[in-house]
Amino acid sequence: MPATTTTPSLQGVKLVKTYGDGDARRTTLHEVTIDLFPGELVLLMGPSGSGKSTLLAVLSGLLEPDSGQVMAEDDGRLREVWQLTPKEREEYRRRNTGFVFQGYNLFPALTARQQLEIVLKWGSGATSGEARQRADDMLDKLGLAKNKSKKPAQLSGGEKQRVAIGRALVKNPNFVFADEPTSALDWENGQKVIELLRDAAHERKASILVVSHDHRILPFVDVYYHLEDGHLERRPLAAHH
Ligand SMILES: Nc1ncnc2c1ncn2[C@@H]1O[C@H](COP(=O)(O)OP(=O)(O)OP(=O)(O)O)[C@@H](O)[C@H]1O
Ligand SMILES: [Mg+2]
Repeated sequence: MPATTTTPSLQGVKLVKTYGDGDARRTTLHEVTIDLFPGELVLLMGPSGSGKSTLLAVLSGLLEPDSGQVMAEDDGRLREVWQLTPKEREEYRRRNTGFVFQGYNLFPALTARQQLEIVLKWGSGATSGEARQRADDMLDKLGLAKNKSKKPAQLSGGEKQRVAIGRALVKNPNFVFADEPTSALDWENGQKVIELLRDAAHERKASILVVSHDHRILPFVDVYYHLEDGHLERRPLAAHH
């Protein structure tokens, strides 16, 4: 199907998010509209504090906007994420989304392998054997073969970051939200991670939204947005190559 007739798999429509009350009230997202398409790796850049993490949280169903809609394809139908009940939304997220948090959010008591295994067992009903195999394959791809039995406290920052990426990708989600997934990585590992994200988009037709400050990522992405002062702007890629 030609790209021009493809419909978005996820749409944020006129999203508004304000933090604080009274004098401290600040509008972080000012009617932000964005379309994500299947098979696209999308980069989101913008200054610190411009609302990138906020936008990821709203689009992924983690943080409720003040107004606006998030429309997402789920099992062949379009759903309005913020009209679902909390339980339905949790189910929707489990079925469809992977999230790499800026601070990794790993479970301190679990080994690297277990962090991925529980996603597969609880999230997609894999057997123990399948879960172990898929967790191991993903950790190998991320260069973590020697770290499978380590807990977060025994891992370096970059290793923790790669475990968090593996956890988000291992169940092959339709939507992946990655908040600065390469911030703690050298370029060799950063490039590995970006290639994994790009493969998820191009080969499995996932929609991937990556927040990053790293301009080295630009040649790998399909679409590039800039967020500043609450406004989102699509920018041409060619000028940055
Ligand atoms: N829970 C909250 N309560 C109040 N203000 C918040 C809250 N979360 C974020 N903010 C404010 O909203 C703005 C946007 O924050 P956000 O974390 O989305 O920015 P960001 O673009 O991800 O920044 P960075 O690049 O530093 O990660 C900031 O000014 C921040 O201080
Ligand atoms: Mg952030």
